[in-house]
Amino acid sequence: MGESVSTERIAELLKREEERFEASHPKSKEVHERAGADLLSGVPMNWMTRWPGRFPVYVHEAQGASVVDVDGIEYVDLCLGDTGAMCGHAPAPTVAAIERQLGRGITTMLPSEDAAAVGTMMAERFGMRHWQFTVSATDANRFLIRLCRQITGRSKILVHNHCYHGSVDETVATLTPEGKVEPRWGSVGPPVDPAVTTRVVEINDVAGLERELANEDVACVLIEPALTNIGIVLPDPGYHDEVRRLTREHGTLLIIDETHTLSCGPGGYTAVHGLEPDAMSMGKPIAGGIPTGAYGLSDEVAEEVLASTFWEAADVGGVGGTLAGNALQLAAVRATLGEVLTEEAYERMIALAERYESGVNAAIEEYGLGWSAIRLGCRVEYMFSAEPPHDGGEAAEVIGGPLDELMHLYMLNEGILFTPFHMMALMSPATTEDQVDAHTAAFERIAADLTA
Ligand SMILES: Cc1ncc(COP(=O)(O)O)c(C=O)c1O
Repeated sequence: MGESVSTERIAELLKREEERFEASHPKSKEVHERAGADLLSGVPMNWMTRWPGRFPVYVHEAQGASVVDVDGIEYVDLCLGDTGAMCGHAPAPTVAAIERQLGRGITTMLPSEDAAAVGTMMAERFGMRHWQFTVSATDANRFLIRLCRQITGRSKILVHNHCYHGSVDETVATLTPEGKVEPRWGSVGPPVDPAVTTRVVEINDVAGLERELANEDVACVLIEPALTNIGIVLPDPGYHDEVRRLTREHGTLLIIDETHTLSCGPGGYTAVHGLEPDAMSMGKPIAGGIPTGAYGLSDEVAEEVLASTFWEAADVGGVGGTLAGNALQLAAVRATLGEVLTEEAYERMIALAERYESGVNAAIEEYGLGWSAIRLGCRVEYMFSAEPPHDGGEAAEVIGGPLDELMHLYMLNEGILFTPFHMMALMSPATTEDQVDAHTAAFERIAADLTA
């Protein structure tokens, strides 16, 4: 991994950057110590401890693609809430719609007038009718899995190795080198051995997919069209044709999770590449940051769902949520899709990502780093291997470790925020060329320092 950089140099720089971080963030340190009194680990959710540094940066405010912390330091935000803020922070049309709706009621358990308009917008964008709204993308996936089981009468699901679809029990599973399914490393309290519920194959392993589906016990294949949570791993040309052919051949429904691949364009990867899933799930940016998930069903699946719904228990059958589909969410989705995530915005965002990618590639070349940059629309990731990984297992080998830790911390000290789990950069409609160039300049400085 990143053999161009010596382990001694990484250790030396890590020590220096830790000290620099601590010295420049006295207020965050103080808030962290206070928060530690009554919050577990001093943070509202424990994964926030995974930000670089001995304590996380505490945020004062976020606007557009900038974040200002409590020490008054301003950052270029390339993390953008790991896609939850892909619209930029506080996008004006969404904020205006939210403010209007806040004064008219947040949640009533009744559909609001926005519902019909939002349904039409989703159908036009994603080429799929019959939408439902949830509180998160995790919920959308959980409900789709249940519906697929109900329709097919089958018990198992199939996912890619090193996938992430939210905190969905069946998906927190990986493959051992021997090809066995086991709880993902770090899985908290799995309800049952995931081998009981889940089949796992590597992305791009068509033979493995065929072998697993041939058991004829898989209700649905739930996949991202490209892996985005273990760095980016792209599908081979023709892979999705094979996935579609095999799922149809074996009576398995196909769910495409577009939560992160909404980066590809207004209709996600599915629209750009003409995929034909039976169902789609998503969440994160579609309401501009207001917690919202959604799933869409094909005509055939919708018909079967309607036919198998036990209406007298539709609220307690395991698909639902009192806050799901509330008026605030729908007002936010309407404004976000209509006025923020527009075609013109995507054109700008993708052009910025191309600028970012070429800046990174030029510096990788100049400093002989032996890394690679991979882009999915307005989302770009650099990986510490010369060849982009071909599957989740390969990607897992190059992610993490001291170099990863150093890059995150060093970038933070240079005023650039990356998603804490990998080197992903996202462009929003509010991101500027100057911000992209600020990252390129920081990347060059760090590359020079790493290879000095
Ligand atoms: C592809 C994918 N699906 C679903 C989710 C779950 O999203 P949420 O945590 O908002 O429920 C994530 C989160 O990172 C994701 O990356």
